[in-house]
Amino acid sequence: MELIFATNNAHKLQEIQEIIGDKFKILSLKDIGFNEEIPETQPTIEGNAKQKAQYIFDRYEKPVFADDTGLEVDALNGEPGVYSARYAGENCTFEDNVNLLLKNLDGHSNRHSQFKTVIALQLSETKVELFEGIIKGDITENCLGEKGFGYDPIFKPYGSQQTFAEMGSEEKNRISHRGLATQKLVSFLKNLHD
Ligand code: IMP
Repeated sequence: MELIFATNNAHKLQEIQEIIGDKFKILSLKDIGFNEEIPETQPTIEGNAKQKAQYIFDRYEKPVFADDTGLEVDALNGEPGVYSARYAGENCTFEDNVNLLLKNLDGHSNRHSQFKTVIALQLSETKVELFEGIIKGDITENCLGEKGFGYDPIFKPYGSQQTFAEMGSEEKNRISHRGLATQKLVSFLKNLHD
């Protein structure tokens, strides 16, 4: 069975194809010849994941899934949340976002936060399945580690001595928000196919 993953992120594609095995062939947006930007205009992570999957389904009428992720910080009322990618403004870098977050949390002793990923799988015009992955942790005072991307250097999962940026990718994928949501998607797909 062929499934479109509404992304051009090669890392995410490879990760999911490895977990899912050869029962499903995952096609990227590039593979299907789609070169536009997909709108992400919803006020929630769930809404954006659904919007992206629906947008591609409406054009190709083939099973498709899309993901959306945000970092929700308790002391900032859930910010940056759905705006995680552009917290410090349009065209900002990961470093800009991290610096702004540390600045906004300056003086706060409550560092609790969570990463949340939602994957929306659109199988038909009316059938949409949602898979959520959450990991809770603290925002550190400073950047620690060089690996990963985004907010990884300042996110330390509860019970861990290391930030995401200090862990190997295998360990991070095993416990991360996106890893957990992906595992749920994969078991759903495997059951569907059996
Ligand atoms: P996306 O929806 O996967 O594109 O994620 C939106 C934004 O959340 C990214 O631009 C990153 O800033 C942040 N983000 C998503 N996943 C991670 C992660 O695993 N580690 C650190 N930051 C992440």
